[in-house]
Amino acid sequence: MKIILLGAPGAGKGTQATRIAQKYGIVHISTGDIFRANIKGGTEIGKLAKSYMDAGELVPDSVTCEIVKDRLTWSDVKNGYLLDGFPRSQYQAEVLSGFADIDLCLNLEVDPSLIMDRICGRRVCSCGESYHVSTLNGSTTCAKCGKELTVRPDDNPQTVKTRLDTYEKNTAPLIDYYKAKGKLVTVVCGDKNPDEVFKAVCEVLDK
Ligand code: AP5
Ligand code: MG
Repeated sequence: MKIILLGAPGAGKGTQATRIAQKYGIVHISTGDIFRANIKGGTEIGKLAKSYMDAGELVPDSVTCEIVKDRLTWSDVKNGYLLDGFPRSQYQAEVLSGFADIDLCLNLEVDPSLIMDRICGRRVCSCGESYHVSTLNGSTTCAKCGKELTVRPDDNPQTVKTRLDTYEKNTAPLIDYYKAKGKLVTVVCGDKNPDEVFKAVCEVLDK
């Protein structure tokens, strides 16, 4: 299975991607996570990406497309993969079609009024786990590894607004792009909890 996971910031791409990857034995590739790992590692890519991410804008295509192209040459993708956060524009989608044959674009449609609270309430762990303050019962540490949870630098109201604008302008048109190719399936998440969304996602993937 070669899947694109599409959705606005805070739609639950990362939350669902972790579960999908585990259940279906495919690799989860998140361009956002790759950039954050580069920032942490102090690489040249990280230095470049940071200013764009902090502003809520897209990291330049030349860098992003090369990263994904290279990542898809690794041997671990042979059983399939899930692209989380790529492509994010028609240009990126066209570049992707030059080196990958995607089976499905899974679009997570979320109630827009929920996004700001979801993102600003997110707490993340360096091990990759992600939580929401409403379910942490006051805890500030990761239930999986015990490390202190932090707030993503781009999870503040002002940057979220820009990320949403960037999504509407550049990424939302991909819904029609993949629909026209007969590859789009939309899961209407509304205000469903992550388990309910995952159930709906599995119904699509099991077909
Ligand atoms: P990226 O890391 O991809 O961020 P994003 O698209 O803004 O999406 P998020 O990770 O914020 O949300 P998500 O949909 O994964 O939701 P999550 O599951 O975490 O990109 C960051 C930046 O990197 C971009 O702004 C850009 O600068 C750069 N970048 C990345 N890819 C790029 C590309 N291709 N080209 C150029 N630049 C690129 O959930 C969010 C919160 O909601 C969590 O707290 C979670 O616990 C909670 N939650 C999830 N599901 C539910 C639910 N069903 N009910 C209640 N709460 C829920
Ligand atoms: Mg994410």
